Amino acid sequence: MARLNLLEETRYEKLPVSVYGSQQEASLAVAARIAKLIRDKQSRGEKAVLGLATGVTPIGVYNELVRLHKEEGLSFQNVITFNLDEYYPMKPDAAQSYVTFMYENLFSHVDIDKANVHIPDGTLDKDDVVAFCLNYERQIEELGGLDLQILGIGRTGHIGFNEPGSAPNSGTRLVTLDDLTRSDAARDFGGKANVPTKAITMGIGTIFKAREIILMAWSKKKAPIIKKAVEGEMSGEVPATYLQLSDHVEFVLDEAAASELTRFDTPWLVKDCSWED
Ligand code: GLP
Repeated sequence: MARLNLLEETRYEKLPVSVYGSQQEASLAVAARIAKLIRDKQSRGEKAVLGLATGVTPIGVYNELVRLHKEEGLSFQNVITFNLDEYYPMKPDAAQSYVTFMYENLFSHVDIDKANVHIPDGTLDKDDVVAFCLNYERQIEELGGLDLQILGIGRTGHIGFNEPGSAPNSGTRLVTLDDLTRSDAARDFGGKANVPTKAITMGIGTIFKAREIILMAWSKKKAPIIKKAVEGEMSGEVPATYLQLSDHVEFVLDEAAASELTRFDTPWLVKDCSWED
């Protein structure tokens, strides 16, 4: 269970926020929580069901998990994973696919059973997408739900690929990407025109059901959307604001991503300050 905001200076913040001195320090802390979950489950003979994200943001966490596997014997044999999303259409062996990303950054370097890896299938025939999505939800449910979902955030406020307009109870489905999201992905695809217009994503409702949710964000680039997600009114315009309703979510930020929050940007609104010339 995440900590409540007990500090006066966090009173504009509608969900628990932890701010770390650096992205590296924050990534190590998140990786340590994941490793503890995996080991606790192992000691009880249970599976750990993880919801995983792509993007630059979680790379430090994956690097640390690989290190823990190689140097400290952390095993992934009891781990089952479900990735948030995949572009559509997308071949799994394409350089930009989330399958390639996950194998390069995590799965190829740990002892996870590949049969336990689930990533939305970007090669499906359009007629098969709905059945695939329902099955993705069913598989998660049959395993007892996600123990932990990690998230990044897009500049539109998307989590997974739940773009503005997504419903709070949405499930896994095919979506159309926001123009800003496609611009942000343009570099990976050698131009925006090459970025797929669609994706398959877990829904907000799917994410919400996870027993623990950790959203990470680093750098100044994310500061404006973090301010909206943490302090703004809940709205489909910024899908991440729906996380404000969860009592088991935590935002893990570096100082730059947190810099527009009231307690850092205008601290005199939330605590006593001594004024200088
Ligand atoms: C993509 C992914 C999201 C991710 C977001 C942010 O759109 N579908 O899951 O959170 O990008 O990416 P980055 O971490 O590279 O900033």
